[in-house]
Amino acid sequence: MQHIDLKEIFSDKSYLNQEVTVCGWVRTSRNSKTMAFLALNDGTALPHMQIVIDKAAGLAFEDAMPVGTSVKVIGTVVEGQNGGVEINAREITVLGKCPADYPLQKKRHTLEFLRTMPHLRGRTNTFNAVMRVRSVLAEAIHRYFQERNYVYVNTPLITGSDCEGAGEMFQVTTLGYAPDFKSEEDYNAHDFFGRRAGLSVSGQLEGEMAAMAMGKIYTFGPSFRAENSNTPKHLAEFWHIEPEVAFMELPDVIALAEDMIKHVIRTVLDSCQDEMKFFDQHFEKGLIARLEELISHEFAVCDYTEAIRLLQESGEKFQYPVEWGCDLQTEHERYISEKVFNKAVFVTNYPKEIKSFYMKQNPDGKTVAAVDLLVPGVGEIIGGSEREYDYDKLVAAMTERNMNLDLYQDYLDLRKFGSVPHGGFGLGFERLIMYVTGVQNIRDVIMFPRSAGYIR
Ligand code: 4AD
Ligand code: MG
Repeated sequence: MQHIDLKEIFSDKSYLNQEVTVCGWVRTSRNSKTMAFLALNDGTALPHMQIVIDKAAGLAFEDAMPVGTSVKVIGTVVEGQNGGVEINAREITVLGKCPADYPLQKKRHTLEFLRTMPHLRGRTNTFNAVMRVRSVLAEAIHRYFQERNYVYVNTPLITGSDCEGAGEMFQVTTLGYAPDFKSEEDYNAHDFFGRRAGLSVSGQLEGEMAAMAMGKIYTFGPSFRAENSNTPKHLAEFWHIEPEVAFMELPDVIALAEDMIKHVIRTVLDSCQDEMKFFDQHFEKGLIARLEELISHEFAVCDYTEAIRLLQESGEKFQYPVEWGCDLQTEHERYISEKVFNKAVFVTNYPKEIKSFYMKQNPDGKTVAAVDLLVPGVGEIIGGSEREYDYDKLVAAMTERNMNLDLYQDYLDLRKFGSVPHGGFGLGFERLIMYVTGVQNIRDVIMFPRSAGYIR
């Protein structure tokens, strides 16, 4: 159906006084004695287009009035009251009627209520804005890497090895329950792949293989985690950006993460001004100023050992006790980024026991060259490290963790054939969107969230 995006009409003055065809859904409508008005939105822009109906012209418009109705309008673009544009309708066609039980009748609904209708909530201002920011961020991330000689690699979603080793892997199977298998091994041997398979928690291991060939790679795809934690920042299916770079050491990983985050936030501030103003107004007062501040200062860097000292000396009552060796909980991460530094902080060199097998072992024998990026309001949005590239040290770390080395032969081979120092990180895309928009629940920054006990 030939029509023009409302976004084009809002942004291009040459449509003024021209006749146009537009389509969309009625967000609100108003009927007065001589005139009727529709606020139309087609999803291409945040503002609604006012459609003005002069009743004297005798248009059949009554069926277009109910909220949620989809319509096609032919009319002339004219200047509206406050400097904007509106359309004087000449012809209105109802494409799809919308009865009174359409759930989005009110102007504002709670996010909890909207979560109960994933198929419709995209038609609200909030989701319109979130999804556009999400889309612009995705493009900005691709462009950032593409312009810097990175190769975009698609790593498998079905995998035979657990990258993070945290036991959070969903199993992939075609075999139903049957009591007659002799053992778990027997069961796995009869399964589709002839061995146990799962949904990947991270593309890193394959990303390293690609980086050992193409030098600089990144992935951008879904990762899956069977985390039972029903928190506002965990999904069972999230989107993961994982650059992996040959010859990169920990300070280089940190520099890359900082530069990329600043770059993509700058892009969103510049190209999503309506959306960012909306979030500033409705979700977090001062959001734009906070992001401007963030990208104009250097991020802090803090050693894990120092972070523990700061937490212990804080006098704060934490739910989880703090001692050297403990994993940082969200409350600790937020205290460090919000109260101590009041900006983004890289925490480095964590105890090896709480991090994955592949991280480069530091000379102290206790810590690994890991880095997490913590931001105010959200906590961890990035986890990364320099990788252990010494064959013997890697085997030792895996043996200590009782890992089955047979499953990681290809990965270990990389350390035999021209091994190089290398590193990378994983950025949780939804966590970044939360941070950029001020939206506080991860279920509200992805169209169709999946989490423990929830799929629709
Ligand atoms: O810290 P994580 O577990 O690190 C890795 O997976 C590494 N293999 C990354 C790498 O070095 N290539 O996960 C990385 C990021 C986290 O910082 C977080 O932002 C996000 O992925 N993340 C999740 N986001 C939403 N829901 C979940 N359940 C997440 N688990 C991790
Ligand atoms: Mg992590």
